[in-house]
Amino acid sequence: MTFDEKTLARFDREVAKYPADQKQSAVMACLAIVQQEQGHVSGEAEVAIAHYLGMAPIAVHEVTTFYNMYNQQPVGQFKLNVCTNLPCQLRDGEKALQHVCHRLGVEPYGTTADGMFTVQPSECLGACADAPVLLVNDRQMLSFMSNERLDELLAMLKDTHA
Ligand code: FES
Repeated sequence: MTFDEKTLARFDREVAKYPADQKQSAVMACLAIVQQEQGHVSGEAEVAIAHYLGMAPIAVHEVTTFYNMYNQQPVGQFKLNVCTNLPCQLRDGEKALQHVCHRLGVEPYGTTADGMFTVQPSECLGACADAPVLLVNDRQMLSFMSNERLDELLAMLKDTHA
């Protein structure tokens, strides 16, 4: 995979924020740019970023797989991350995940046939006291997601799409 000039210019702007011998520090920004432009970060894109930054591909892959904001495969229009880390487990996090999966007819990590929703379990989102919590498209955090509130959310997102 090669990146076009526009993408490389965006990479260059990120690399310029760091000392010349530390351009690898821009790896997260480069991954975010690729995801913004392509919807996900493929293995080929990881290798190309590694080449651009002078890193080992496995080092880039370690970053991609550590943070679940990076999509390693195409996702739906709405990516729903439900926290199932231990504190949330104790307060219905797993039940919330199962409820969303059941309502949408997908398994965890699955995407609905219409390409609208992807549902994923998530590590701690930093709002343990608000469980169950859910993050929409890596940006919007929702707290105290009872089954009723989950149903309302799904209905609202479907309306948004209609
Ligand atoms: S464990 Fe779920 S937000 Fe912290």
